[in-house]
Amino acid sequence: MQHALVILKPDAIQRKLIGKIISRFEEKGILIVGMKMTYISKELAQENYAVHEGKDFYDPLIRYITSGPVVIMALKGVNVVKVGRKLLGATFGHDAEPGTIRGDYAISNRYNIIHCSDSPESAEKEINLFFRKEELLDYDTIDLKWIYDTSEGKSV
Ligand code: CMP
Repeated sequence: MQHALVILKPDAIQRKLIGKIISRFEEKGILIVGMKMTYISKELAQENYAVHEGKDFYDPLIRYITSGPVVIMALKGVNVVKVGRKLLGATFGHDAEPGTIRGDYAISNRYNIIHCSDSPESAEKEINLFFRKEELLDYDTIDLKWIYDTSEGKSV
């Protein structure tokens, strides 16, 4: 199983979309193994978005992500990075297909509601940035055997 980090950005919280967005992941069969509501410090934001340093949207992006409370989740599932990014839709709200989270709730380039790791490697890095080891929970839900075929000892 793979992990991914998701951030419900300040606009999602201000627009009271937390419940609706979390439902999308739960209904897909993705397991939430870590979750917190917090402010992201400027230092942490700069570290998380280091790949964008120097781009014209970098400073406003740091202001945006630090502008209010966020909800951060560590997710677990088969191919969860790819699945998560599909659930989010295209980066810009106006490009995102209806039915995706951004397609349904965002129209802006920057205020795009939600972030998801773009590779398993960045997922590990981002999860380590936002969660301590003991904040990640190792558990299964009772419906696991109906979400995946587990009859052969692995989740298919
Ligand atoms: P995210 O998927 O979190 O990754 C980087 C973020 O920067 C992106 O979502 C947007 O919030 C923002 N972003 C990316 N490109 C632009 C852009 N061209 N103009 C404004 N904001 C952008």
